[in-house]
Amino acid sequence: MTLVAPNINALVDDRPEHLAHHFDDASQQFEAAKFGMWLFLATEVLLFGGLFCLYAVYRAGHPDIFAYGSQFLDTTWGAINTGVLIVSSLTMAMAVWCAQNNYRRGLCLFLGLTLLCAIDFLGIKWIEYSHKFHDNLVWGVQFYEGEHAADPLHDQAVDPGLAAIAALEPGDPARGGGLYLRTCMACHGLTGEGLPGLGKPLQTSEFVAGLDDASFVAFLIAGRSPKDPLNTTGAAMLPRGGNPSLRDQDLMDIVAHVRILQTNALTATSDERGVADGKLPIVNGQLLLPQSVIPLAPDGPSGLASRLNESDRDYSMFQSSVDAAPTASLERPANAHLFFAIYFGMTGLHGLHVLAGIGVITWLLIRALKGHFDNGYFTPVDLGGLYWHIVDVIWIFLFPLLYLIR
Ligand code: HEC
Repeated sequence: MTLVAPNINALVDDRPEHLAHHFDDASQQFEAAKFGMWLFLATEVLLFGGLFCLYAVYRAGHPDIFAYGSQFLDTTWGAINTGVLIVSSLTMAMAVWCAQNNYRRGLCLFLGLTLLCAIDFLGIKWIEYSHKFHDNLVWGVQFYEGEHAADPLHDQAVDPGLAAIAALEPGDPARGGGLYLRTCMACHGLTGEGLPGLGKPLQTSEFVAGLDDASFVAFLIAGRSPKDPLNTTGAAMLPRGGNPSLRDQDLMDIVAHVRILQTNALTATSDERGVADGKLPIVNGQLLLPQSVIPLAPDGPSGLASRLNESDRDYSMFQSSVDAAPTASLERPANAHLFFAIYFGMTGLHGLHVLAGIGVITWLLIRALKGHFDNGYFTPVDLGGLYWHIVDVIWIFLFPLLYLIR
């Protein structure tokens, strides 16, 4: 009468402990697990592939940045780590072989050796990273700070580089007018009349009248922090009016325009001087229409700038504080921090994978010590081995691409 065959129970009893109920037999389960692992490894390749693409694009665009940055990487440590990982791949392969062939003590030994190598790798990475952090070789603005900013006394000799500024072309007031409207007008008003609470009057400023053009440009490069004794408003005049994309020559053009505003202010009656009547200023016969007052976006990275051009780029803009170090104090070439962004991004992600690998290998070792694996069941060792190999292979690419490109 019973339809439930007792032989089903017998089948269940026959099944090895590790065989999940939805698989027919151990080899089907093994193949399924391996297939899943390969799928996972494919996503890992996609993940790192994206970063390698980024690397390729940046390196093609800025080979100079990579050549410069790479010289700060320690080839010796990198090479030792490469060796460590290659050895660990061998010991991992030996561990898998031992599991397949029922050598339990060998399995434990080789898993242990692999684990040691993985920890060793991270230890060396730790040494390398801490050197980088100590030397400010990092991805952000700190790259240009600390002892690598030239000392202020040294700056005084070089900066504000009045000689270099004096060598600029004479300012073009028409061009400067447009730039003024885009950057300075928001605070100093259409005709330099000053906007209360935002910026001081320029047309009637004795300070401005007392500056020659080169010193005027030097003032604009540096700006005036609220801590400056000359500051009367308590508000900051940001370096380059808060628009770091303005080059020295642009500032010279703006100065030429401000000179016209000053002259206009002297000759005009007080009625004409302001914009209360809605009149727009006419410069060189051209009506100056206000444009957007939103500053232009800073130029994108353009490779290593030479030290002279360096003063054109003001990284202090990206800091919160307005009394940041003068711009010319950047000892390191502009944009070189990008190399370290890529270095830390790629080796950091790889390091996280090594960390995960340490977890996996520890787990395997504990199970191996408990005698969970034999030639009938070694799937976790096999898959852990696959994972560990891809972690090694990625490093094999990272090492030459980052360390060996000088
Ligand atoms: C975000 C507002 C802002 C913008 C934009 C700005 N300034 Fe200023 N500027 C100020 C403030 C505030 C002061 C006054 C600081 C002080 O109290 O000394 C000032 C002061 C100055 C002074 C000194 C005036 C004096 O009499 O002491 C000059 C010159 C000047 N700015 C020129 C410019 C130029 C040229 C631009 C465009 C490139 C510009 N500023 C853009 C806010 C601004």
